[in-house]
Amino acid sequence: MATSYPTIFLLLLSSNCFLILLSSSSASAKLVQHTFHVENIKVKRLCGEHEIVAVNGKVPGPTIRVNEGDTLLVHVLNNSPYNVTIHWHGVLQYLSGWADGVEYVTQCPIVPGNRYTHKFNITKQEGTLFWHAHSSYLRSTVHGLIVIRPRGGRAYPFPKPHKEFPIILGEWWNSNANDIVNEALTQGRLPNISDAFTINGQPGDLHPCSSKSTHKLKVKQGRRYLLRIVNAALQSILFFKIANHKLTVVATDASYVNPYVTDVVVIAPGQTVDVLLYTNQHATSYYMAARVYQGSNLVKYGNTTTTAILEYQDVSKSIEHPLMPSLPAFNDNETAYKFFSNLTGFTSAPFWSPVAKNVDEEMFVTIGLGLVPCDGCVGPFGQRLAGSMNNISFEPPTKMSMLQSFDNNNVDKIYTIDFPDKPPVNFDFSNPNNTFNPALLMTTKATKAKQFKYNAIVEIVFQDTAFGSLEYHPMHLHGFDFHILAQGYGNYDPLKDRVKFNTINPQIRNTVAVPMGGWAAIRFQANNPGVWFIHCHVEVHLPIGLASAFIVENGPTPSTTLPPPPSDLPQC
Ligand code: C2O
Repeated sequence: MATSYPTIFLLLLSSNCFLILLSSSSASAKLVQHTFHVENIKVKRLCGEHEIVAVNGKVPGPTIRVNEGDTLLVHVLNNSPYNVTIHWHGVLQYLSGWADGVEYVTQCPIVPGNRYTHKFNITKQEGTLFWHAHSSYLRSTVHGLIVIRPRGGRAYPFPKPHKEFPIILGEWWNSNANDIVNEALTQGRLPNISDAFTINGQPGDLHPCSSKSTHKLKVKQGRRYLLRIVNAALQSILFFKIANHKLTVVATDASYVNPYVTDVVVIAPGQTVDVLLYTNQHATSYYMAARVYQGSNLVKYGNTTTTAILEYQDVSKSIEHPLMPSLPAFNDNETAYKFFSNLTGFTSAPFWSPVAKNVDEEMFVTIGLGLVPCDGCVGPFGQRLAGSMNNISFEPPTKMSMLQSFDNNNVDKIYTIDFPDKPPVNFDFSNPNNTFNPALLMTTKATKAKQFKYNAIVEIVFQDTAFGSLEYHPMHLHGFDFHILAQGYGNYDPLKDRVKFNTINPQIRNTVAVPMGGWAAIRFQANNPGVWFIHCHVEVHLPIGLASAFIVENGPTPSTTLPPPPSDLPQC
């Protein structure tokens, strides 16, 4: 698409969003504009009034609706008292890394009173994504949906839904989540667990003072609906169910999958799942509900259930007690693993890309927790809790973003490119006896990145370590989708496990839930120059360093080279 956007037809103008048709080559592509006012607002939840940070006065914030091929222009005005950046989670950002919105990785934060305009195209992906703050815990209340429909009136590659509903799963703290995390980080421990989970911002009927605002989906009997489910919660993988109804998964992370019928959706932070719902049951009211999946008995989690109501409109008067689904047990590993590993890619859907064959870069990356030395911390052994990849705990720069440094040939030495291809020592990674093994627990802070040649085929096997606890880590890669070739429990064994790789129709994702005490193998092509964050999407693991960055070199031509930064890019 052309980088200039002549304003030919002004379609619609409102204070927060307007659309302009582009006169460029792709006939139906349009420019979609939004203005995001990030500011403190007061909301009532769980019997109290709370001051939180939100976009345009709402949690969840505004929904961005585009057609594949459109260009987005989002003006972010920070009127909150916090530094903030906004990230478009899962958007491929081809040659638009400056818009990716990752604090200290692609830009410096937007300081209070400042603004930044994100400009990017949404190409070759369809389905559901979301946007969220990428600074501290702000994303608990600063997030919203991104809906990408096919361009030019092309139909979905699944039966047409009568209507679409967002289902944004979130997590709520009764005090300012930012203060909670900052206090915990100073003390080197984990932050307090949340007070509730939410569906479209509401905790639901099982919580005090909440039933008036419980979210309701009004449906007609005998129809087909599309639910766009996002896990915008910070800490937890969630089970999601609707009483008496089966769901058909048709897309995950804005990539189509082969229709998969299930009665429960399992969704990790950072993932999206699009499902078809057939309203083929008795015309009454049903609860939809979500609660935590947590296989580890060492991890504290909120044990509450959030609900919303599916209400058949044909029902003469709404019944007092909708039917409640029976959710899997908190530690139902089998259900979680089954859902995560059974999905397959829809190879005849638009934008399917076959698995690249000749791997240029093979990495084996341990992921987990650990400790860094600290005086007066209250983490395990009196040290500071850390997260690491290949025993490097990511330390963000402060002087400028890594992408600015990349653009300047890293002359300021903001990062080094010696992130290792394998962990420093081999040990029995997933053996619980190593959970508190003092000889292995210590890690070091550094700003190390891995650098790839333009177009390199990269294969990564993530291996969960037992440190701190065995747990699922949803690993999210910015700037790319990847194929999930295989996953399993225990230690990855190249001899035994490589033959299990699905190179025919694996699912395509931007976030892989690496099994607790297990591994997952992914592959992607490094075709997008820039600096791309890769991290655990469990929010508490991110600021403690369960992250790294991938640097992709520019290609040989101007059209494979990252353009210069926009003039309003926030500086440190
Ligand atoms: Cu949704 Cu780097 O994250």
